[in-house]
Amino acid sequence: MIIAVDGPAASGKGTIAKALARHYGLPHLDTGLLYRAVGMAVLRSGGDPADEGDAFQACAFDDGLLDDSVLKSEAAGRAASIVSAHPSVRAALLERQRDFARQPGGAVLDGRDIGTVIAPEAQAKLFVTATPAVRAQRRFDELVRMGLAVTYAHVLGDIQARDERDSGRGIAPLKQADDAVLLDTSDLGVAAAVAAAIVLVERTR
Ligand code: DC
Repeated sequence: MIIAVDGPAASGKGTIAKALARHYGLPHLDTGLLYRAVGMAVLRSGGDPADEGDAFQACAFDDGLLDDSVLKSEAAGRAASIVSAHPSVRAALLERQRDFARQPGGAVLDGRDIGTVIAPEAQAKLFVTATPAVRAQRRFDELVRMGLAVTYAHVLGDIQARDERDSGRGIAPLKQADDAVLLDTSDLGVAAAVAAAIVLVERTR
């Protein structure tokens, strides 16, 4: 079984995807990490994430980078959102994600275009969302726990900019697949969101 979990930044999709993978005993891929690795590799090489040539070159990043906690930073998220709008970058990362989805036994993938582009054949598709204010609060709390000096207003602005970039790009924009079920986690804690996700997967698969 392939489970596709898409949604905007800080919607809870990563937590839900991880929990679904554990529940069903499936491997999990956080596809945002691939774009974050490309974004970080560009920044480290002194390149510009908005330059398609620089970003494409960075797709040959060292896999060790995927385990680096620097990928969790807001800078990496912003760079990821910028490089992910380049068609050649999306093409370079496509097969890797498709191969992961199609391994025998199935997989859980989370991202922006799993249900629409990477694995349209997925048996279960969730589109996880929450209001921008709730998502900003979650991300703000997370960054404060990490010891970073940030303001709520700054985090909210960042989330809104990322939503606009991810939804407005010409290629594989963030968008609910026609056959995906919507899960709004605005008023749900982690346990309730995961329980709701399992009910939805059971209903659709
Ligand atoms: O899920 P995330 O916040 O780690 O993703 C970082 C950025 O990567 C996101 O703003 C857009 C891009 N991305 C994408 O375009 N397609 C995906 N499947 C996953 C992430």
